[in-house]
Amino acid sequence: MRVDTAHSVTDTRNRPIRDLRISVTDRCNFRCTYCMPREVFGPGYAFVSRDQLLTLEEIARITKVFAMAGMRKVRITGGEPMIRRNLEHLIAMIAAIDGVEDISMTTNGSMLSAGRARELKRAGLKRLTVSLDALDDETFKRINDVDYPPSRVLDGIENARAAGFVGIKVNAVVRRNFNEHAVLPLVEQFRHTDCIVRFIEFMDVGETNGWNLEDVIPARELVRQIQARYPMEPVSPNYQGEVAKRWRYRDGAGEIGFITSVTESFCGGCSRARLSAVGQVYTCLFGTEGHDLRAPLRSGASDAQLLRQLTQVWQGRTDRYSELRSQYSQAVQGRPKVEMSHIGG
Ligand code: GTP
Ligand code: 5AD
Ligand code: SF4
Ligand code: SF4
Repeated sequence: MRVDTAHSVTDTRNRPIRDLRISVTDRCNFRCTYCMPREVFGPGYAFVSRDQLLTLEEIARITKVFAMAGMRKVRITGGEPMIRRNLEHLIAMIAAIDGVEDISMTTNGSMLSAGRARELKRAGLKRLTVSLDALDDETFKRINDVDYPPSRVLDGIENARAAGFVGIKVNAVVRRNFNEHAVLPLVEQFRHTDCIVRFIEFMDVGETNGWNLEDVIPARELVRQIQARYPMEPVSPNYQGEVAKRWRYRDGAGEIGFITSVTESFCGGCSRARLSAVGQVYTCLFGTEGHDLRAPLRSGASDAQLLRQLTQVWQGRTDRYSELRSQYSQAVQGRPKVEMSHIGG
């Protein structure tokens, strides 16, 4: 069925829905201390059960409704999305939706075997982001907390390149006194390759990662540090509202990026919606409550009815958490923010 892609819904600040980030599972095989700390996400943790999880068909159906509302870019996330069975089937279904122009995935890279990488490519995945916070064994294992060596993530990236993925992005979350020493090695590892490293300021997502403003290294501090060794110049954004600030090395060794979610917020152009693995729509990464689409979907709502609900949610959207961080964190006290593994990065 063809959908009407002319329709475009905007929120109270005139921001359209351009991107949809879909969490396909809340589970992960890593226990990164800043995302799923073992003390919280241990053996007793209540992960989403199978019957609560949206089926792949349900995810595709909701994605189609988002496309009807003007969404053009899909990013698959988790938890670790590659844990989800038949993920390639979902990607193929999404790639076939009218209006979807881009489909990418953020993964920890641990399951990117040569075969899996080829299957993802064949299914229609266009772009890939791999998380990697350090290259030395000790630091990376301390972060992932499952004794996983960085060399295997590098193998995953190589497999993806061999399968034909170009311009792979490598995300590194930087925390003071934790992995700041990993920054230059990461820069050097990916200079002269077509991979783009992006350093992300540690954010106060969720309630369990022990965030503290003192742990945040402002991106401008990293720019200064890298500049001193490898002169760089800024590059204009690929598209309006791009999350990362782009730079390139003056010697032609490639591009890097910085995600300044804490020190220079980018809510003004935020066109991102998030869909959790159980079918809740969140209009901000720092949301406390989602809007359920699973119940209407399972009780037989039509596309038009689902679109009406989504339109209502988006038209009422006022979110700008990062812009208001200091006041807002007090305002939401008592209502826990949703965890990153639940709604995806
Ligand atoms: P492309 O530009 O399409 O490649 O995607 P992207 O830059 O959005 O990449 P990615 O999804 O990897 O986002 C990078 C990181 O930026 C995420 O993992 C988050 O940590 C952060 N981020 C992404 N979207 C938001 C957002 O809406 N708000 C905030 N505060 N942080 C975000
Ligand atoms: N702050 C910044 N980035 C984070 N990520 C996960 N938790 C945080 C946080 N608290 C990153 C991951 C991954 C992406 C999904 O989000 O490292 O690259
Ligand atoms: Fe898993 Fe990514 Fe969270 Fe680490 S940051 S625990 S790899 S979802
Ligand atoms: Fe968008 Fe919320 Fe992030 Fe601001 S804080 S950029 S509104 S997701």
